[in-house]
Amino acid sequence: MRFPDDFLWGVATASYQIEGAFNEDGRGESIWDRFSKTPGKVLHGHTGDVACNHYHLYKEDVALIKDLGVDSYRFSIAWPRILPQGSGSVNQKGLDFYKRLVDELLANGIKPAATLYHWDLPQMLENHGGWLNRDTAKHFQDYAQIVFESLGDVIDSWITLNEPWCSAYLGYGNGHHAPGRQSFAEHFGAAHHLLLAHGLALQAYKQLNLSAEIGITLNLIPQYPASSKPADIDATRQADGFQNRWYLDPVFKGHYPQDLPEFLIYVDPYVQEQDLKLISAPIDFLGINFYSRAIIAADQTGKPQSQPAQYPVTAMGWEVYPQGLYDLLLRVHRDYGPIPLYITENGAAFHDILEQGQVADKERINYLEAHFAQAARAIAAGVPLKGYFLWSLLDNFEWAFGYERRFGIIYVDFETQQRILKDSAKWFKLFKKGVVKLSPIS
Ligand code: FCB
Repeated sequence: MRFPDDFLWGVATASYQIEGAFNEDGRGESIWDRFSKTPGKVLHGHTGDVACNHYHLYKEDVALIKDLGVDSYRFSIAWPRILPQGSGSVNQKGLDFYKRLVDELLANGIKPAATLYHWDLPQMLENHGGWLNRDTAKHFQDYAQIVFESLGDVIDSWITLNEPWCSAYLGYGNGHHAPGRQSFAEHFGAAHHLLLAHGLALQAYKQLNLSAEIGITLNLIPQYPASSKPADIDATRQADGFQNRWYLDPVFKGHYPQDLPEFLIYVDPYVQEQDLKLISAPIDFLGINFYSRAIIAADQTGKPQSQPAQYPVTAMGWEVYPQGLYDLLLRVHRDYGPIPLYITENGAAFHDILEQGQVADKERINYLEAHFAQAARAIAAGVPLKGYFLWSLLDNFEWAFGYERRFGIIYVDFETQQRILKDSAKWFKLFKKGVVKLSPIS
């Protein structure tokens, strides 16, 4: 149960989920501002207007990161702070905020890992079709270039996109996320343009000859057949293709999964020559966000259908299945390696209760401990896993669930903006110091 000495430990957040200051210093509107203010879209009508007020409290938050003793901090840059209209004129004050943040991190010996796109698309671009419009990918390249030029020498690692499956499917397929469009067929266009945006950002990056590493973060969910029946196994292949390979294959192999002609017909009209070449340009690492697994059975028509969990679930209803992390890491390494891997998100929401200044979140500690152990096991099995970022530093705006779902290892009182270390943060600190050790996998 050991990690290499140079293993990178970090915590993660995202701009819209923590920053607040939605209309300050020239920030433009994002699709999440619009969506969260549309009645019925977010639980209790919560918005990210204030969130954790991190825009103003960033120094305090960096001090908390430092106190945890972690090596790195993964945050995201809000495109509408940099380009309020999505393209065109640059808002220097937006860039200045991230410079201040990065300076503060560096002054505290914390390595900055920056995500360029964690879902807050400028609303103006959405007005022109959003990710369904191919031009958005080009605008993303221009935005990326501006950020690379401004922060290129101080960022330790770059992540182009966070979870394009979520942006595409939840945003344009089932409408659970902003911008809330609902077209299964069209969401394949959004997915393709997101991947193209990734490829174009890589192209811009390579031309600048910067030294930091660059990669992409995918949300991968290992899929397990509910039985050994051929129909269930085939349904699992389809679910894996839709959820995982649809993003892994273009990035690593330069083509969409050939065994899914039923989906290829949707994406084909969007694919132009050279796109897949750009999308599959070499990256320095793959970021994996892991939370849970899926169990798949075939319905009467042979299509995949998700089955109920077999183990306890978190407050999100996501099954706790740490072994899934091990299986996934080995599988990605086997099918897409060799490529350095990072876990760029892992963590859990539970119904935390603040009592006398304490949050006794034993379930979260158990979750983290079990996942750390599986990560260590994967490393021992030869997987080049280089780091782990815990989701999340702070309780924050959990998208369509608003502030109802708490993922932080630090509790946030959203009335007073007070931050309180949960027991899991205290445990993580001791783990990082080497004071607590992982128990063997039971
Ligand atoms: C991931 C997102 C992150 C957070 C966690 C719980 O899908 O990247 O912003 O919401 O889930």
